[in-house]
Amino acid sequence: MVACLAVHNKVGVLLPPAHASRPKKILFSIIFETLKTTFLYNFLLQLLFLLDAESAHHFSLNSLRMLIKIPGAKSILRSLFLVNDKRLERTVFGLQFRNPVGLAAGFDKNAKYVEVMEALGFGYVEIGTVTPKPQPGNDLPRLFRLKKDKAIINRMGFNNEGADIIAQRLQQLKDRKILIGGNIGKNKITPNEEAVNDYIICFEKLFEVVDYFVVNVSSPNTPGLRALQDKDSLLQILGALQQINQAKPSPKPMLLKIAPDLTTEQIKEIVEIVLETKIAGIIATNTTISRESLITNNQVVTAMGAGGLSGAPLTKKSTEIIQLIHQYASRKINVIGVGGIMTEQDALDKINAGCDLIQLYTGFIYAGPQLVTQINKRLLV
Ligand SMILES: Cc1cc2nc3c(=O)[nH]c(=O)nc-3n(C[C@H](O)[C@H](O)[C@H](O)COP(=O)(O)O)c2cc1C
Repeated sequence: MVACLAVHNKVGVLLPPAHASRPKKILFSIIFETLKTTFLYNFLLQLLFLLDAESAHHFSLNSLRMLIKIPGAKSILRSLFLVNDKRLERTVFGLQFRNPVGLAAGFDKNAKYVEVMEALGFGYVEIGTVTPKPQPGNDLPRLFRLKKDKAIINRMGFNNEGADIIAQRLQQLKDRKILIGGNIGKNKITPNEEAVNDYIICFEKLFEVVDYFVVNVSSPNTPGLRALQDKDSLLQILGALQQINQAKPSPKPMLLKIAPDLTTEQIKEIVEIVLETKIAGIIATNTTISRESLITNNQVVTAMGAGGLSGAPLTKKSTEIIQLIHQYASRKINVIGVGGIMTEQDALDKINAGCDLIQLYTGFIYAGPQLVTQINKRLLV
């Protein structure tokens, strides 16, 4: 009963929620304390999984966004999910993160849920991928669950509201408590030869409202995009962005997000380019086009069609790539690890492989917000 009427502020510490009247306090405490349990999250997940994947995503996030508008709700969510401990703080590429667990790009493409994710305990949020102009993305359906594999296949295709609207939204965020990364890409209709201009437009439009940048050349869902991972294109894009960046009074850290389907030769070449262009580091990895060793029936997988696979089938591959990056870079660059972090142990494996920070997407869908809490608590042990 005590646990129902009180909420956790730190690891194992029970405190009454800060800004709520008593009846509200009790109601929210009961709801959220119960929600926190894996059992109830799993139950809600079963209900959400009755909806198609994209509707479930919007329904749950919009519900949370409405919920946190209720006075007191945000601080109660924080009390339940945020592990507030100095020992979790990380200073990476000159920025101070309150904890190393971030929300991966693609989840909050339009920067609508930054406050929700802050309240759910994330250390930082990467918004986007943002393109210069708004675009609708690919036709529906374009998001599929592979429950048996704890995986997702998506071919969203950079659906987003465009750099202007997203920059405006971020501008309006008051009293921002966490760091925001701006993940940038090119519009579908922009030919690869002109891609550099799209990256520059996004960079300039978002410069004042994000803390670091990610150059995304690794999504499998924009035709030809991954070809920008070749040496000449990368040197052109990163070189141009760095020139603009370094001319600013306070340049922003810039990272490159890479695919897990690169050869070891390509990874080596990319590490050399990162060192040469002196960007801050690499985010490894995006989704894979591979369909290897899935439990889900082959015909079912084939029927889902093209797209990037994320979640548990990617865990090992992305960790191996992180190890390779460090091997080639002799630990001279920062790495953010993402790809199949489904459990606390997966997070530890990524950190042990040399990641300065980590990010979640698919694990957050399957395990819920308590995964962020559990990882942070485990990092304190
Ligand atoms: C539905 C969906 C949309 C995504 N959209 C983007 C995106 O717009 N930009 C990007 O860089 N990565 C995007 N990603 C990739 C994730 O950020 C992440 O790199 C990948 O899913 C691997 O992490 P995970 O196994 O934890 O999901 C997307 C992933 C999913 C599942």
